[in-house]
Amino acid sequence: MTDLDRAVAVATEARRNSYSPYSHFAVGAALKLAGRDVYVPGCNVENASFGGTICAERSAVVAAVSLYGPVAFESITVVTDTDPPAFPCAFCRGVLSEFCGPDLIVYLATPEGVKTTTTLGAILPHPFKLV
Ligand code: THU
Repeated sequence: MTDLDRAVAVATEARRNSYSPYSHFAVGAALKLAGRDVYVPGCNVENASFGGTICAERSAVVAAVSLYGPVAFESITVVTDTDPPAFPCAFCRGVLSEFCGPDLIVYLATPEGVKTTTTLGAILPHPFKLV
């Protein structure tokens, strides 16, 4: 199994845990730690308030920081079952930019495999920074 297959497998597995009774749109993510064979999963967790919903990408970021601290990340793989596969929302792009530079690789995939490869810098060219 290649690294990419592994990332898709972790994100697909996380997607199975998606709690999405309102949108019925299940999303899974796998955030790879830089230089380490570690893939942190995340799924979307919806809330009756709607505003309390957490996307899969942000779930993965929060899980990764909780487990490992604000370490470097190499890629994020996002799995949906749409064609074309979904890009991270603007909110998630901003949260990723808190911990990741423009070179973070963003893989957009379905459970069958990666369909599109881009970078955080390409999809969020001017991230907000306080300093
Ligand atoms: N969602 C994600 O998990 N990631 C995104 O980048 C965009 C949207 C989730 C939130 C909600 O549970 C569902 O998809 C529909 O918006």
